[in-house]
Amino acid sequence: MAEQEILYLSQKDVVAVDLPMSEIIRALETAFREKGEGRTEMPPKPGIHPGGGDNFIHAMPAYIPALKAAGIKWVSGFTENFKRGLPYITGLLILNDVETGLPLAVMDCVWITAMRTGAATALSARFLAREDSSTVGILGCGVQGRTNLEALKVLFPVKKVKAYDIDPAISEAYADRMSERFDIEATAVQTPQEAVKGSDIVVTAGPILKKPHRTILPGWLEEGAFASLVDFDSYWHPDAMKEIAKFCTDDVAQLLHYKGAGYFQDIPPVYADLGELVSGVKAGRENARERTMTANLGLAIDDMAVAPKIYERALEMGIGVRLSL
Ligand SMILES: NC(=O)c1ccc[n+]([C@@H]2O[C@H](COP(=O)([O-])OP(=O)(O)OC[C@H]3O[C@@H](n4cnc5c(N)ncnc54)[C@H](O)[C@@H]3O)[C@@H](O)[C@H]2O)c1
Repeated sequence: MAEQEILYLSQKDVVAVDLPMSEIIRALETAFREKGEGRTEMPPKPGIHPGGGDNFIHAMPAYIPALKAAGIKWVSGFTENFKRGLPYITGLLILNDVETGLPLAVMDCVWITAMRTGAATALSARFLAREDSSTVGILGCGVQGRTNLEALKVLFPVKKVKAYDIDPAISEAYADRMSERFDIEATAVQTPQEAVKGSDIVVTAGPILKKPHRTILPGWLEEGAFASLVDFDSYWHPDAMKEIAKFCTDDVAQLLHYKGAGYFQDIPPVYADLGELVSGVKAGRENARERTMTANLGLAIDDMAVAPKIYERALEMGIGVRLSL
């Protein structure tokens, strides 16, 4: 039998493939339509927790027949890594052939994780935000602050960004970089309230906490605005969340799983998951006054919708290293 090979794609290789955000959003749209119509396989993610605390290593398998996508992401988040000069999120993704089950590729998963999370915000916003949303408030100006804005910029006429970070040097650098990159008016603001008030879309992307710090108070999120809670409910006062007409998530089973683990203790009832919004089972925004919100948890189907596209482009571009199986 001929020797089988896999393609190894390092973090630099995955970045070099440079898959456009618009394609990532499209891939997620297909994945969520398939999920909404019951045609994906995605068992709940098992995890281990070396070192305790909020550290995790999660196994995230998924199969999306319509995209011929099957595989698993093995991703870790270690909260103290920054003290060692190491990244918080690291991991690998294995992509399998859906016909034979053979592994096709092993790739670094950091870029995919960053980009697909932004894409999931934008896809949710397509159904939950006003089409004319042009002012975005970003709280937490790290990796997610950047990719969420990049994705929103693909679907919305974003003109103004108000950026808040607990470290003002970070929000200032972010505002400069985003103004230049997207030709928009991005400014650093001094308080979370300034970032939320007057924004059409709000993204909170600070640390995930079991016990929310409840900074965002009732009356801050404007009528007709949409919020994406990349950092779960950490930022939100429960009474501010009660103002929401439609509270959504990407997967109810996973939300309940996190609830059982101590997160999301005081949230509104879930109106719809993203699969139901994309497949039309549930209506999205129905008027210009509703306040809407999603807490997307990050799903294995997000990653698996994107991985085959990276693999195919890498093959076309001659990127990566072939290794014997
Ligand atoms: N839901 C998902 O699918 C998903 C996926 C990936 C990451 N995340 C989460 O998103 C969050 C951001 O991830 P990242 O990769 O951008 O991290 P990052 O470290 O690159 O950026 C986080 C930023 O938040 C800032 N910050 C810390 N506390 C803050 C506060 N109270 N207010 C405002 N800013 C604050 C930090 O200074 C930093 O600039 C993390 O909590 C991560 O776990 C969620």
